[in-house]
Amino acid sequence: MATALKKTKSVWFCSNCGNEYPKWMGRCPACGEWNTMVEKEVVTGKAAPAAAVSVPGGGRKPQRLTEVTSSQEDRLSLGSAEVDRLLGGGIVKGSLVLMGGEPGIGKSTLSLQIPLKRPELKTLYVTGEESVKQVKMRADRLGGDASNCFIYSETQMDDIVREIQEIAPDLVIVDSVQTMYCSHVESTSGSVSQIKEVAATLLRVAKETGIPIILIGHITKEGAIAGPKILEHIVDVVLQFEGENRGAYRVLRSIKNRFGSTSELAVFEMTGTGLREVANPSELLIPQHEDGLSGTAVSAMLDGNRPFMFEVQSLVSSAVYGTAQRSATGFDVRRLNMLLAVLERRAGFKLSQKDVFLNMAGGLRITDPACDLAVVVAVLSSNFDYPIPGDVCFAGEVGLSGEIRPVSQAERRASEGARLGFKRIFVSSYTHFDRKPQGIEVVKVADIPALVRNLFK
Ligand code: TYD
Ligand code: MG
Repeated sequence: MATALKKTKSVWFCSNCGNEYPKWMGRCPACGEWNTMVEKEVVTGKAAPAAAVSVPGGGRKPQRLTEVTSSQEDRLSLGSAEVDRLLGGGIVKGSLVLMGGEPGIGKSTLSLQIPLKRPELKTLYVTGEESVKQVKMRADRLGGDASNCFIYSETQMDDIVREIQEIAPDLVIVDSVQTMYCSHVESTSGSVSQIKEVAATLLRVAKETGIPIILIGHITKEGAIAGPKILEHIVDVVLQFEGENRGAYRVLRSIKNRFGSTSELAVFEMTGTGLREVANPSELLIPQHEDGLSGTAVSAMLDGNRPFMFEVQSLVSSAVYGTAQRSATGFDVRRLNMLLAVLERRAGFKLSQKDVFLNMAGGLRITDPACDLAVVVAVLSSNFDYPIPGDVCFAGEVGLSGEIRPVSQAERRASEGARLGFKRIFVSSYTHFDRKPQGIEVVKVADIPALVRNLFK
């Protein structure tokens, strides 16, 4: 090795987006975040680490696109219908999947459940966080068939790559990217350069060997230093675990997927024996209380391709001190403020002196604009202490002039409502249905005043 030519220099990485800069800056020009620069020594010159962990089976040649056989991607089922669906029908061979989430949310549990549920797959589970004994105890707790699962407690990438080649498993799980290190990179594990190099090495291994790899990464709420965010452009698929730590429900979302659609979502429940998939989230997210409670409304929402219903809760009360409080869990508080302003200016509801609290059922984080209508209804229902009948649901976006706008795939939302026993769905007047939804009455409203006339009689 031409060690003499090896030089190091300092570069600065943004820990939020992973962009690299030659000097420190207070604000990252790429993503606009403040105070995210971290300094790293990188090796330059002829001994750059590109070939540090070599993967045999390379030496490929460029091919004509027409010579490439375009069979369907080869996919493996991971033993969970929900995870398979999220991935677009199973994990693609040779792909690198990043599973991110806060500590304690269930990443290790979910990934250990895969080999236990799919003993047909020879799986190598590399753990850098827990000892082999701890993993064994967890596996005992989860149950299932552990006969084809290899546990390997190691953090050094060269050894890990060697074992992958030796064992030739069907699936590799690496827990977690923050604990692994490449010996040729001179910084501690968990640093930006190590994380990037570890991921790049695993990507190379996955592509060369055709073995799919699941890489686990911790994210903290603040998007802390060297978060897996910087990996998002390296890996093929990014799955993110979300959920209130206190609640039992967890949501796994696909944020990026080179082999399927994004914004898909799967719901799991953490039980005493691992994560149980909730195939039909509506059943858990809609009211379990009697009719007659004010401040709740059911929204018909869509995640990726699947419609489901969930409850929006609101509490409106007189502000004790001068400034009213606005708080929203699982919903953008700025959007809430906008909706309250629309209610005040366009429909004359005096809410500026009121505290408004908003909560999405099950600790979900909602970005679907169709939820606006249910938010508005829940707020008004609480404000007037007027309960909304339990068999009514809502799907509409609210515009700045108080108009109610149509939402995508209204038909599917309505049929999901009908399937779950809802009798009426409120949508925008401008909603177009190709086919009239069966078994549910569609109430079309043009704006907030029309909604109020129809609902609060
Ligand atoms: P874990 O998978 O270790 O989280 P991560 O790898 O994302 O850090 O999950 C840890 C939490 O899950 C812990 O608080 C205990 C809980 N848990 C259960 O409730 N039931 C179980 O069967 C298991 C294995 C864990
Ligand atoms: Mg873990």
